[in-house]
Amino acid sequence: MRVVVIGQGYVGLTIAVGAADAGHSVTGYDVNENLVSQLNAGISHIEGISNAQIDKVISRGTFVAGSDSSLLDGSDVIVIAVPTPLDDARNPDLSYIHAATDLIARNVKSPALIINESTSYPGTLRTEIASRITAVDHFYASSPERVDPGNDQWSIKNTPRLIGGLTPTAVAKAREFYATFCDTIIEVSSPEVAEAAKIFENTFRQVNIALVNEFAQIADAIGISGREVIDAAATKPFGFMEFNPGPGVGGHCIPVDPSYLAHVANQVGVPATFIKPANEVNVAMPAYVVGRVVAGADASIKGKTVVVVGVAYKSNVADTRETPAAAVIDLLRQRGATVTWHDNLVGSWRGESSGAIKGSDIAVLVTKHDGLDLAALKSCGYVFDCTGTIAGADGI
Ligand SMILES: NC(=O)c1ccc[n+]([C@@H]2O[C@H](COP(=O)([O-])OP(=O)(O)OC[C@H]3O[C@@H](n4cnc5c(N)ncnc54)[C@H](O)[C@@H]3O)[C@@H](O)[C@H]2O)c1
Repeated sequence: MRVVVIGQGYVGLTIAVGAADAGHSVTGYDVNENLVSQLNAGISHIEGISNAQIDKVISRGTFVAGSDSSLLDGSDVIVIAVPTPLDDARNPDLSYIHAATDLIARNVKSPALIINESTSYPGTLRTEIASRITAVDHFYASSPERVDPGNDQWSIKNTPRLIGGLTPTAVAKAREFYATFCDTIIEVSSPEVAEAAKIFENTFRQVNIALVNEFAQIADAIGISGREVIDAAATKPFGFMEFNPGPGVGGHCIPVDPSYLAHVANQVGVPATFIKPANEVNVAMPAYVVGRVVAGADASIKGKTVVVVGVAYKSNVADTRETPAAAVIDLLRQRGATVTWHDNLVGSWRGESSGAIKGSDIAVLVTKHDGLDLAALKSCGYVFDCTGTIAGADGI
């Protein structure tokens, strides 16, 4: 099949390489021309896709990146994988979806299967994509991406894929496409079900993370270890699912997607009572961490050197979007500490470079990647661990 994937970020590049590997003729379309040149030179910008994988599909002739809109016409399949952030009022910002849709409307003259993989609220495929394209009768399906960058166990191949289409033919075509590189395909009765499943999955995660974060604070105040309690509870073989506390949530999904659900709930007049407080608990975690660090460091960090270790939002990825490390650093600086940071995967961030761990008065472990120099970390005067890695250290 001739496939165009609009957006070559975490989701789009993963799908493009998966489809190219399966033998489809894939164009990775992106508005970022630097990224396009980099991809055509065989350089990956995300974890989970190596340079060798890109080289392989380029040399087989099944993948090319481009920014020319004329590349879209004549495609069998067009996958939309663009950002779906929140605006300043924390409402869904569909401007990227609209831009991708308008790109299709302007350039694609023959019927194609249009699939939206970007995360959005139920109704997006029908009302924000299909209804904006009037000149050509395309086939439309929703298949929200579930990829977890950095996860070695679950890939696009073995993570079950949901599909919902506007018509049975669209579903059949989407199944035919995904069956070439995904093991398990689950058809649901409408695109709205597929879209809602994705935001419900991430809301479930956000609410449960908030619950353990709140519980960790209660446990600490009681004088017991929250992690030990959670591990103990997790010995129950049914009716309990383990989540672990941390310094807050980051990335493109957990801090964002639940607000898409709250938005539709608001539109249909149903209160989404869990989402806002869960977000507030998670957003307040950096302040809690800093309060504990100050308390643990003899009630003051003024004039002390602090290294924040791990600024990516989760283990083994270099992604710093919405990372709670930003607030941890800013709050430590407000308390008068001299703060540097170290991340063995992130070289530079916010105009600063990754520095050394050794020699600081205080180390705050926010995110732990494989290969972290734990001996250097332990050599700092006081260590606060947000990851449950260092036995006996203060932390959450
Ligand atoms: N990152 C994840 O782990 C993950 C997992 C599942 C779902 N999602 C969802 O997938 C979608 C994409 O997320 P991502 O992490 O891949 O984003 P990203 O920021 O990594 O990549 C998006 C890409 O789209 C490009 N782009 C923006 N507007 C464009 C346009 N009009 N035409 C062509 N290219 C355009 C950008 O230049 C960028 O390269 C979002 O809805 C996100 O919520 C992300």
